[in-house]
Amino acid sequence: MSSGARTVAVTGGAAGIGRGAVERFVAAGDRVFVLDRDADALAALEAELGDQVTGFAVDVADRTALAACAQQVGGSLAGGPLSGLVCAAGIQRYGTVVDTPASTYDEVMAVNVGGVFFACQSFLPLIPRGGSVVVVASVQAYAAQHNVAAYSMGKGALLSLVRAMAVDHAADGIRVNAVCPGSVDTPMLRTSAAQFGGDRSTDEVVAEWGRSHPLGRVATTAEVAEVIHFLASPAAAFVTGADVKVDGGLTAQLAVILPEDGR
Ligand SMILES: NC(=O)c1ccc[n+]([C@@H]2O[C@H](COP(=O)([O-])OP(=O)(O)OC[C@H]3O[C@@H](n4cnc5c(N)ncnc54)[C@H](O)[C@@H]3O)[C@@H](O)[C@H]2O)c1
Repeated sequence: MSSGARTVAVTGGAAGIGRGAVERFVAAGDRVFVLDRDADALAALEAELGDQVTGFAVDVADRTALAACAQQVGGSLAGGPLSGLVCAAGIQRYGTVVDTPASTYDEVMAVNVGGVFFACQSFLPLIPRGGSVVVVASVQAYAAQHNVAAYSMGKGALLSLVRAMAVDHAADGIRVNAVCPGSVDTPMLRTSAAQFGGDRSTDEVVAEWGRSHPLGRVATTAEVAEVIHFLASPAAAFVTGADVKVDGGLTAQLAVILPEDGR
C-alpha cells in the first residue's frame, strides 16, 4: 500500500459497480473490506486482487450480520481508521405496483434500502472526521421506466436518506453523497438484457440500451468507480448531500423527435 493509503468498505463489491469501486481503491493503494453475499466471487476477488482486499460473506439484508461484520472490521483496523463506506449492493426486480408480489417488494426494500440504511448504521460509527459515505442509487430515482415500481421507489428513498445523513453527520465532518448511474455494463444489466432480449443477443440489447443515452453507449464500471472514488476522496471535501448523475446524458434528454431529426 502507498503511504497515503486509506481503508474503505464496499458492499456488493464482488461484482459490477461495487467491484469497479474496489478495483479503483486498490489501484490507489487503499485497503478494501468487501461485503458481498456471493462467497465464491469474494474468494476469486481476493485471489485476483491480493492482500489489499479482505472479503466478508454478508447479506446486507441481514442487519445482525452487518453489525457483526462492522465489529470485525473495527477490530482489524490496525492500519488506520475506516475512511469510507461505499454502498453498492443492490438487486433489480420487475413489476408494477399491482403485480409486484409482497415478497418481491419486501426483498427489494430489505436489500436496496435496508441494506444501505443498516450498513450505514453499523459502519458510520467507525468513520472518523474527514471520512465519507457514497451510496449507489440510480437514474431511476428521478424517472421511471415501466415495471420497476419497487426498485424505483427504493432508489428515490436512497436520495432522501443520503440528504438526511449528510445533514446529520456534517457536524461530525462526515460527507454523504450518492451516484446515480444510467445503464452500466454489469452482470445485473446483462441478466436483464438476457431476460428481455427475446431472440436478440445480449450484446445487441446492451448496445440498443446504450443508444438511448446521448453518449451512445452504456457506461463501464470503471467510469462509475471514478466518480465514486472522487466523492470518497478529500478532493471532494466540500461536496455533501449531492446526487451525481453518471448517466451519459440520459436524464438530460427529452424524448422529443423533431421531423427533421433523422436519428
Ligand atoms: N447496472 C446498472 O445499469 C445500474 C444502473 C443504476 C444503478 N445500479 C445500481 O448499482 C448497484 C450495483 O449494481 P450492479 O449492476 O453492479 O449489480 P450486479 O448484480 O452486477 O452486482 C451486484 C453485487 O452485489 C451483490 N449483492 C446483491 N445483493 C446482495 C445482498 N443482499 N447482500 C450482499 N451483496 C449483495 C452481488 O452478489 C453482486 O456481487 C445496485 O445498487 C444497482 O441498483 C446499477
